[in-house]
Amino acid sequence: MTHDALNWDPLLIQRYNRPGPRYTSYPTAVDFLTVADDHIERQAYAERVATRPLSLYVHIPFCAHVCYYCGCNKIVTKRREQAEPYLRLLKDEIAKKSALLGGGLVNQLHFGGGTPTFLSDEQLQELMAFLRRHFTFSENSKADFSIEIDPRELRHNTLSMLRAEGFNRISFGVQDLDPDVQAAVNRIQPESMIRAVMTEARSLGFHSINMDLIYGLPLQTLDGFSRTLNTIIELTPDRLSVFNYAHLPERFKPQRRIQADDLPDASTKLAILGRCIQQLGEAGYHYVGMDHFALPTDELAQLQQQGRLHRNFQGYTTHSDCDLIGLGVSSISQIGDYYLQNQVTVDAYEHALNQQQLPNLKQRQLTLDDKIRRKVITELLCHLAINLSDLNDEFGIDSRVYLADSIAELKPMLTDGLLAWQGHTLHVTDKGRLLVRNACMAFDRYLSEHQQQRFSRAI
Ligand SMILES: C[S@@+](CC[C@H](N)C(=O)[O-])C[C@H]1O[C@@H](n2cnc3c(N)ncnc32)[C@H](O)[C@@H]1O
Ligand code: SF4
Repeated sequence: MTHDALNWDPLLIQRYNRPGPRYTSYPTAVDFLTVADDHIERQAYAERVATRPLSLYVHIPFCAHVCYYCGCNKIVTKRREQAEPYLRLLKDEIAKKSALLGGGLVNQLHFGGGTPTFLSDEQLQELMAFLRRHFTFSENSKADFSIEIDPRELRHNTLSMLRAEGFNRISFGVQDLDPDVQAAVNRIQPESMIRAVMTEARSLGFHSINMDLIYGLPLQTLDGFSRTLNTIIELTPDRLSVFNYAHLPERFKPQRRIQADDLPDASTKLAILGRCIQQLGEAGYHYVGMDHFALPTDELAQLQQQGRLHRNFQGYTTHSDCDLIGLGVSSISQIGDYYLQNQVTVDAYEHALNQQQLPNLKQRQLTLDDKIRRKVITELLCHLAINLSDLNDEFGIDSRVYLADSIAELKPMLTDGLLAWQGHTLHVTDKGRLLVRNACMAFDRYLSEHQQQRFSRAI
C-alpha cells in the first residue's frame, strides 16, 4: 500500500496527531495495579488452562553503550561480569515458573532487551540449555524462536551459534544509516556492518528477518532517510518496524544529550513518514499498521489478510493461542485473563526471588468490560474493522447500546472519512489507517486527559 493509497492528507493527520497508547495490551500497562505480594500471580497460574501452549519472553536488560534516543528498560554498563548474578536470578525465576506450569509446550520464544547478545555466547548457550531442561520446545516448523540483535554486539560465531540453538527469526536494530545521524545518537554502525550481518543471517537460514528503523531522530532529513530506505529495500528484510522517535527527556535520561534544535520539525517528520510509506509501498511492502511493514510473503502480512493476526507486548504476533510468560526484569506475562508485570529494578527482582516470591510488581485481572473493549481495540488494530454482530454473539450484549458513548465519540472521525459503517461493521478506511489508534482511544475507558500526556504522539 503506497502513500497515495492511504489518501495522504497532512493537515488532517496533524489535526488528529495527539498522544496516545500503542495498545500492545488493553488495559495498557500504565493501568496495571501494584501488588502487595505474589498471590494474584499464583492464582493466575492455578487457574490457567494447562493445555494452552506457551510463549516465553526473556528480558536481558544490559547494553554496553548508550544510544541517546533510547526509551527501553536497560542498564548501560561496560562491566560484563554484571550478567552472571542476573543470570542466576533469571534461572531461579525460570525454575519457579516452570514448576508452577508443570513444564509446558513452548511454541514461541523471544529474547529481548536491552541487548541479549551482551551475554557471551557461552552464557546464551547455557541459558538455552536451562530453558530446554525446564520446558518442551516445539519441533513444529511454525514455532518461532526469535532474538533482538544489535549488529555491533556480535562475536564471530554468535549468529551461527544462535541458529544452532534453534533460533529461526531475528530482529536487527538499525535505526538510520546516515553517519551524521548515527553520531548524533551515539550509535555508530556502518552500512557495511549491516550488509554483512544481513548476508550472514540469510545464509544461515533465518527467516522473517526484521529491521528496526526510527524516524524523527536528530539531524534526519527527508533525503537522508530516503537514502537509508533505499539501502534497506535493497537488503530486503521480510519485516520492518519504523518507529516514531518519542522524545521524552523528562522520562528518559539519555535523551537529554540530544539537542532539541537538531530534531526535525513536525512537518519534516510527517514528510519523512509519508516518503517512507511511499517508498516501502512501491518496493512491495504491505503496511500492516502501527509502525509495521511486511513483505506479502511474510506470515505477518498473510495472517492479516486471513483475519488471524493478534497483538501482544511485542507488537503484532501470529501466536494467539499461547499464554505469554515474561521472564526477567520488567517483563510482562499474559496468562488467561491476567496481565502480570515483573519488578523493574534488579534489586527489587532479587529481593522478591530471595524471599521465595514470584517477582511480581503489578497486575491487572480483566473484567468482562475490559474483554469487550480489548476485543474491539485488537480487531481495529489487526484487521481494521469490528463487526458488532460478532461482538454481540461472543459477549451476549447489544454492543450498539453497551458501547454507545464510545461510538458517539467516533463522530468526527466518521465525518472526516477516517471510519465508515457498512451494516454492523465499523471499518477503518485507507485514509484512517495511520490514525487508527485515535479510534481505539474512544473505546478505552481508562484514558484520561492527564494519562494521555504520558504517551507519545502517533506521528
Ligand atoms: C531493545 S531495542 C533492540 C535491540 C538492541 N538493543 C538494539 O538496539 O539493536 C528495541 C528497539 O526500540 C526502538 N527504540 C528505542 N528507543 C526508542 C525511542 N525513544 N523511540 C522510538 N523507538 C525507540 C529502537 O528501534 C530499538 O531497535
Ligand atoms: S537502543 Fe538498544 S542498544 Fe541502544 S541503548 Fe536502547 S536497548 Fe541499548
